[in-house]
Amino acid sequence: MVTTDLDTFFGESRPRILAPSILAGDHADLAGSLAEIEHDGRRWVHLDVMDGHFVPNVTFGPQTVADLRRRTEIFLDVHLMMECPHQFLDAFAEAGADLISIHIEPDYDHAKALSRIRALGKRSGIVINPDTRPEKIFPYLDEVDLVLCMTVQPGFGGQAFMPEVLDKVGIFHELREKEGHRYLIEVDGGVTPEHLPLCTKAGVDVFVAGTAYYKADTATRTAFAELAGETA
Ligand code: DX5
Ligand code: ZN
Repeated sequence: MVTTDLDTFFGESRPRILAPSILAGDHADLAGSLAEIEHDGRRWVHLDVMDGHFVPNVTFGPQTVADLRRRTEIFLDVHLMMECPHQFLDAFAEAGADLISIHIEPDYDHAKALSRIRALGKRSGIVINPDTRPEKIFPYLDEVDLVLCMTVQPGFGGQAFMPEVLDKVGIFHELREKEGHRYLIEVDGGVTPEHLPLCTKAGVDVFVAGTAYYKADTATRTAFAELAGETA
């Protein structure tokens, strides 16, 4: 079983990580889809929670996260695509999420929600959609562990990567250097091995990949992780 060392992910050295998104796995056998990536040597999995309101799709909830947690020690990165994520933070924390990320776009008290995630002893992330201005999340940069830049409109796997989002990644990368923030920068949506060099150059630390990961064979997945610069 893979052991997760949070200090490795969030320490000074800031490793690069390839994070498969289980959205592209088999939803009638998520445990199998998780076991598969663990077997590949991955140490971080991305779990997409969709509520049918904030995004036009529905996936799974805290019970599924809890059942996956019982089977693994791999890092659980829970991406809440929800209109009211603040109502579910305790449930996902209780379920065993390691990191909970919430979108800036819906209207709720973002500062309060981020501080609740921390109070629950979890890492926190703020997520920004492709067409949302970067300034929207500036007030939260000092308190988050992760900035997630969506490289597709959220809701579905298998869409095309939006390279223009890398300008935004560059802004968060520069701000981190200049102001000494600690967050990791993650991209999510349409990521394939071809995008990795540009993403890396822009300052990405964590690459979420659903379709491109699950459709690849083991050797290609290993090459994908190497190209991502995975050292964790
Ligand atoms: C999209 C999700 C992504 C999705 C990525 O709304 O947030 O995490 O799983 O899947 P691919 O890599 O297929 O775009
Ligand atoms: Zn996601």
